[in-house]
Amino acid sequence: MPDEAFRTIWLKPDDSSIVQIIDQRRLPHEYHVHDLKTWRDGVAAIQDMYVRGAPLIGATAAWSLYLAALHGESAIDEVRRAAAELLESRPTAVNLHWAVERILLHTDTASDDAKLANIIRADAEAICDEDIEICLGIGRHGLLLLEEISRSKCGDTVNILTHCNAGALATINWGTATAPVYLAHRAGMNVHVWVDETRPRNQGSQLTAWELAENGVPHTLIVDNAGGHLMQHGQVDIVITGTDRTTRSGDVANKIGTYLKALAAFDNDVPFYVALPSTTIDWSIADGIKDIPIEERDPREVVETYGVADGTPSIVRTAAQTTPVSNYAFDVTPARLVTGLITERGICAASEDGLATLFPREAGV
Ligand code: MRU
Repeated sequence: MPDEAFRTIWLKPDDSSIVQIIDQRRLPHEYHVHDLKTWRDGVAAIQDMYVRGAPLIGATAAWSLYLAALHGESAIDEVRRAAAELLESRPTAVNLHWAVERILLHTDTASDDAKLANIIRADAEAICDEDIEICLGIGRHGLLLLEEISRSKCGDTVNILTHCNAGALATINWGTATAPVYLAHRAGMNVHVWVDETRPRNQGSQLTAWELAENGVPHTLIVDNAGGHLMQHGQVDIVITGTDRTTRSGDVANKIGTYLKALAAFDNDVPFYVALPSTTIDWSIADGIKDIPIEERDPREVVETYGVADGTPSIVRTAAQTTPVSNYAFDVTPARLVTGLITERGICAASEDGLATLFPREAGV
């Protein structure tokens, strides 16, 4: 299980004008703490994927607004300028918008610059604390599913397949898809995670495998195309992924390749669950394929890869210089392929009615 004190973002202990993050681009080969000194450092950290994962992107945006309030000539103007740029920094994960809008709502109450910074700091801290509680809630509900599978297998290993990194590193701690796994492991259940490599950025091999190893959870790295084969041979009991944006009807945008896992799971009667904090639900849209903007990222992510050569972390090019590249970062899994949504309030059907049962106020019923 993750150390209770683990955090992916925090204020520097001896200098509260600096926010610190783990530079996730360098894992698993180097653990490097990176300082955010200005809000522009926060934008760069989100865009260049020092931090990634929907909840952590939202928290980083919140802390970036705190930095804007500290350093601007007119704090409120600087916060508004920062908010506009943060909102443009990555398009798919909806937590970014949620966090920025939440903070902007509270800024009107500040009578001077110092108060504004304090209000935003308190809000950023609350966003992080709430995220931890939300992830633990997801964990407790998801654990029930794993317990049921474990009972049906008379205590034999429960094999979970996951895609991308929806772990502690994508949140503040615990993760979304990994929270049930960490709680199960802590409770002594035999669990094993099939970790999709997750091309092109390798969040599976470089982040999920790293954090599972750090926490002693049995796991095996597989190439992205192996999942269907494992499902055909009864080696996957459940798929649990995260999501970057979920529509009010239960369509789910997640890392590219998630849709193919859902299709394979459907064909093999393997339950396919998506774990999500309610902050990832976009109540304003229903049709994920039509309405969720899909980020297209730098072609270099496809033709270059990060690893260690002769003991030195390096980036190597894998394709010819002239090869044309397409790099869609996310895809949408339609609700009909999703067995259920694991939220902090419980598990529901991936449908408008299902979500409305757990979140009646947000759904407007
Ligand atoms: O592009 P990334 O690394 O920010 O991808 C997002 C993700 O981390 C995943 O899609 C994840 O499963 C959802 S966030 C808990």
